Amino acid sequence: MSGTGIPGMLKRVYSFPVSTPYLSRRSFLAASAATALGLWLRPAWLHAAPLPAITRAIPASGERLPVIGMGTSSTFDMAPGADSLAQLLPVLQAFFEHGGGVIDTSPMYGYAEAMLGELLRAVPHDRQRLFAATKVWTWGRDEGEQQMQESMRLTGIDRFDLIQIHNLRDWQVHLETLQEWKHAGKVRYIGITTSHGRDHLELALALETSPFDFVQLSYNIIDREVEQRLLPLAQERGIAVLVNRPFRRGELFQTVHGKDLPDWAAEFDCTSWAQFFLKFVVSHPVVTCAIPASSKVRHLVDNMGAGTGRLPDAAMRKRMVQLIEQI
Ligand SMILES: NC(=O)c1ccc[n+]([C@@H]2O[C@H](COP(=O)([O-])OP(=O)(O)OC[C@H]3O[C@@H](n4cnc5c(N)ncnc54)[C@H](OP(=O)(O)O)[C@@H]3O)[C@@H](O)[C@H]2O)c1
Repeated sequence: MSGTGIPGMLKRVYSFPVSTPYLSRRSFLAASAATALGLWLRPAWLHAAPLPAITRAIPASGERLPVIGMGTSSTFDMAPGADSLAQLLPVLQAFFEHGGGVIDTSPMYGYAEAMLGELLRAVPHDRQRLFAATKVWTWGRDEGEQQMQESMRLTGIDRFDLIQIHNLRDWQVHLETLQEWKHAGKVRYIGITTSHGRDHLELALALETSPFDFVQLSYNIIDREVEQRLLPLAQERGIAVLVNRPFRRGELFQTVHGKDLPDWAAEFDCTSWAQFFLKFVVSHPVVTCAIPASSKVRHLVDNMGAGTGRLPDAAMRKRMVQLIEQI
């Protein structure tokens, strides 16, 4: 079976072997075959040459990241198998083809780390352009270290670019470990995350008192509370900002359901509501990268488009907010 037919061609498209206990070689071949067929029959919009990605510098180093990355909660929480791989391989491939860099995951997201590992082994990519971020989400020093090592095993990533303390859990304890890991070259950047307003006071305290390179928080055209304190604080302290829930978990699409995009969206090269929401987020000067999640290639490509072309200026951003508040 090797060398000829679809599996033979797949060996040239994707790198083998299959290495996690979750997936048999047979199901991997089946998934890859389905995916490869899908790739050969890809619609014209998927072939369109991507425009150059807008990038922002990480304040701590000057290293630049594309402003649109990708989240994995829910969307990648599928047991690796033929169907899930067939669905997600083209998503990751399109992400890299469109200049994507940051991928955010967590041990909290069920199968997401294992799934990401399978996908990274299957989709050819430049490791230098991938900016791999996970989190530590447990109590206790030993448990934290074990969890981070397990993330490395599941994803096949031997050194994460960024490890973040998820939802502030036991943050003083993990911060100490992460500083040691960073010093030893086992991780490049360290960060802390939340998606809850109730954590904002403690998060501000953590950012004011501790040497974080990154903060991850929720920000979108409706939830703008972080503009008051946390974003200015990140700017003052030279901390890079990743934005989660840029679509409010998808709720924003319901808000605008059946409504036409305004004509003036063309003034900042916006062709869809997804781009409208993402361009709002990444046009905030302190935001480094938004990490929308999608399990669909069409949505992923749409989202990546938000990281190209012009961005709205301050006056346009006000107009965007007014429009959404009127709906
Ligand atoms: N505390 C934390 O650290 C924390 C908390 C929350 C989130 N996060 C991170 O942030 C990431 C993003 O947040 P999120 O996943 O909660 O929510 P989100 O990105 O705001 O929304 C995701 C939803 O939007 C839909 N969607 C994506 N692109 C679309 C498009 N172009 N058109 C229409 N629908 C689209 C997706 O459905 P389809 O699959 O159908 O496209 C999905 O249901 C997470 O995946 C995770 O990595 C971190």
